[in-house]
Amino acid sequence: MLRISHHLLLCATPNKPLCCPDPSVGVASWHRMKQLVREFGLEDGTRSNGVVLRSKVDCLRICADGPVLLIWPDGMIYGGVSEDRIEPILRSHIIAGRPIEEWIIGRYRFSANGMQSLSPEAGQSLLM
Ligand code: FES
Repeated sequence: MLRISHHLLLCATPNKPLCCPDPSVGVASWHRMKQLVREFGLEDGTRSNGVVLRSKVDCLRICADGPVLLIWPDGMIYGGVSEDRIEPILRSHIIAGRPIEEWIIGRYRFSANGMQSLSPEAGQSLLM
């Protein structure tokens, strides 16, 4: 069975561009993410920490300060994830295990009662 270390969910080109009005910014971030995940060997099924999955999603219900990147299982939400932020996030958060706190705009965690927002500034609509 494939071991998964992280899943990167990027709101890059939503149908309603609420978090990032310029779609070219999200497109560039998505292409950079695909390129670097491949270059860093994060998709390698033999990676000792597990593979890193990536998905372009339509909307994470944050809808501000985009492009928005949600990283599971950590539940951390990065804002303003333009192309130039992808490499530092992958190197620091994913590879070294050190989230970049100044770019984090919200946090989620799963609980027995569903997903909860841990920060008031993001994701209120996801409270369950
Ligand atoms: S439109 Fe990007 S999070 Fe909602």
